[in-house]
Amino acid sequence: MRIEPAASLVGDVAVPGVKSIAHRALLFGAIADGESEIRNFGRAGDTESTIRVLRALGVDVLDAADDVVRVRGVGLRGLRAPGEPVDCGNAGTLLRLIVGILVGQEGEFVLTGDDSLSARPMERIAEPLRQMGADVETTDGHAPVAVRGGAPLKPTRYELPVASAQVKSCVLLAGLYAENGPTIVVEHGAPTRDHTERLLLAMGARVQTSPRQAMVWPAKRLEPLSLELPGDFSSAAPLLVAATLLAGSELRVHGVNLNPTRTGLLSVLGRMGARVSIFNRRTIAGEPAGDVEVRSGDLVATAIDAAEVPSLVDELPLFALLAARAHGSSVVRGAQELRTKESDRIEAVTSSLKTLGVRIEEREDGFAIRGVAARPKGGRMDSRGDHRLAMLGAVAGLVSREGVEVEGADAAAISFPGFFDLLESVTRR
Ligand code: S3P
Repeated sequence: MRIEPAASLVGDVAVPGVKSIAHRALLFGAIADGESEIRNFGRAGDTESTIRVLRALGVDVLDAADDVVRVRGVGLRGLRAPGEPVDCGNAGTLLRLIVGILVGQEGEFVLTGDDSLSARPMERIAEPLRQMGADVETTDGHAPVAVRGGAPLKPTRYELPVASAQVKSCVLLAGLYAENGPTIVVEHGAPTRDHTERLLLAMGARVQTSPRQAMVWPAKRLEPLSLELPGDFSSAAPLLVAATLLAGSELRVHGVNLNPTRTGLLSVLGRMGARVSIFNRRTIAGEPAGDVEVRSGDLVATAIDAAEVPSLVDELPLFALLAARAHGSSVVRGAQELRTKESDRIEAVTSSLKTLGVRIEEREDGFAIRGVAARPKGGRMDSRGDHRLAMLGAVAGLVSREGVEVEGADAAAISFPGFFDLLESVTRR
């Protein structure tokens, strides 16, 4: 797909529901007692994978409307072994979280994924689960992951070796099935997203959180959910970044999730001098939300260190574009985790943006960017099947001088199927 340069972004939009919460609401709803309803459900490649997997495990998932899904919970231990591998597609959150649930089910389960998911590290979940007594095997550290469920589980206190909400969530979910006492996950670095803790609490589980740790007690049952999802901050981010960079822009994204563990990009934009305001702060689905307004502005360079990384981990590719136009040199450090995402996002971002004319250099744990006043030239970039790179390519095209041809642009549908249409609807050329 070719994205031509734009003059500005103007308008009012909303983005699909938070993907991280959609996965969790489906998964936790599946093991609740009773029927859950999820509204403003962000239908996307990843969340459809979760629906497909749950159906394969014997759960009724009803497509009540385009953006409404109902899940008939089968109870904490009611998932059925399907007798064949289940395919998690591209969805890391699905695979890593469901394993924490399957250790509590009777039967054997094998989880596979596409090439990208099969290249991602899985020992990070298998290891703490084994400490709890679960029978979980990876294939040389990767998918397929095999789970023999039903082994007695003991609670654990696990110190996260990597800042990962997926690993934290997996261990907490297994804690629901432990024999007695709380399972504790300790975070040493900055806190990772806490959607799991919030949802489990809303479903009646005993959950306690403090800034550095989350505790979950074994559960007898979970209450079903009735939720309207706020918009996904990570889906709003490409629009916010494009509007910041294009002179004359004035864009509002309504009803966006503003969970503080997810909004690091807003703090970064703030210290770069961008003009971002939040209106109508409210609570949606037990999470902070609001309308975000961005006007274009001049930017100054900044540094992002390990402590800030989890709060904008999925937005770091977009940060590289902001930095490319900021006054001075910017750097991202302590972001090795980017190498384990849907693609190696350190290598992919640096090599693609370099081709487009951005002065960016790869570092082992991030990248360094020298900002220049002029727009990047543009050219061709490949999404490598990574949705965040497809959206980065689109924003790069808008803010470039000559446009960008995005190969594999359809990957955006993994998290945001209507992305290109929505972007076009607010683009002024
Ligand atoms: C997610 C957590 C993050 C993020 C991913 C979604 C989640 O991964 O990159 O897109 O829903 O918990 P890690 O927890 O592995 O950092």
